[in-house]
Amino acid sequence: MELKLKGRTAFVTGASRGIGRAIAIALAAEGVHLALFGRDVARCEALAHELRTAHDGLRVVVVSLDLGQPAAIKPAVATAIGQMGGVDILVNCAGGAYRGRLNDIPDDAWERYFAVKPLGLIRMTREALPHLKKSDQARVINISGTRGREPGGVSVMSGPINLGTLSITKALANEFGQYGITVNAICPGSTDTGRWTELVTITARERGISIDEAKKHLVADVPMGRVVVPGDISDLAVFLASARSGMITGCAINVDGGRTRGI
Ligand SMILES: NC(=O)c1ccc[n+]([C@@H]2O[C@H](COP(=O)([O-])OP(=O)(O)OC[C@H]3O[C@@H](n4cnc5c(N)ncnc54)[C@H](OP(=O)(O)O)[C@@H]3O)[C@@H](O)[C@H]2O)c1
Repeated sequence: MELKLKGRTAFVTGASRGIGRAIAIALAAEGVHLALFGRDVARCEALAHELRTAHDGLRVVVVSLDLGQPAAIKPAVATAIGQMGGVDILVNCAGGAYRGRLNDIPDDAWERYFAVKPLGLIRMTREALPHLKKSDQARVINISGTRGREPGGVSVMSGPINLGTLSITKALANEFGQYGITVNAICPGSTDTGRWTELVTITARERGISIDEAKKHLVADVPMGRVVVPGDISDLAVFLASARSGMITGCAINVDGGRTRGI
């Protein structure tokens, strides 16, 4: 399958760890030049070095960005555009949610997490838009989460954060169609990153079981019988970034091994 990704440029937020890192690695393997955005510049630089070493001629730059600082977003995008010359693919992956039930969540955490996702994602997209319009294969890929569709679990904050992300994805798909830009969301189920470790720990504590028992309990809820890994998400991200997905827009696709019960 010809993906027509070689030589394209992607901006990836949350590239320092977990799912964003896996997406950056997968895009690099297809010959996509990268701007890696993150707060943890040392981790992003280590990844950039790894990717430049693995792929001859690949351009990978690192842009320091705390999405919780709205004023920092415009200059960060301008810096990346200055270094890369443009952008075809924007992957908004940075974010997370405070783990806990309602009374576990400190009041200030709500605004702190929402500032990153969906608000940081909205601001990133706004700044990238004039540059995406110049691409003939422009893509916006937002990493949401299955809790946006099925609220609950031990992270009550994941619901509204990821639902907001789904809503803006659909609205922007409608708005950007006229520019030939597709906008889609990927909804990971519980995925084996640092966040999975937190979920396992909380589940063990709440149920009074061991860490191994908590893992088994969580996986028993997944029809495909294993935890999602970051590579499961990056495979779909590569397809959505490619020329093969041009008529898919405004969609939200679960990658959860079937755990979400709704259709
Ligand atoms: N793992 C799951 O089970 C799961 C499930 C559903 C949805 N998701 C979503 O998938 C995305 C990635 O999650 P993950 O599991 O890979 O999490 P992770 O390993 O905790 O990584 C989170 C990433 O977000 C970045 N980030 C957080 N706050 C930021 C801020 N203020 N400014 C800039 N970057 C910031 C981090 O960058 P720094 O390290 O540089 O701070 C890091 O690269 C998130 O949007 C999350 O909501 C994950």
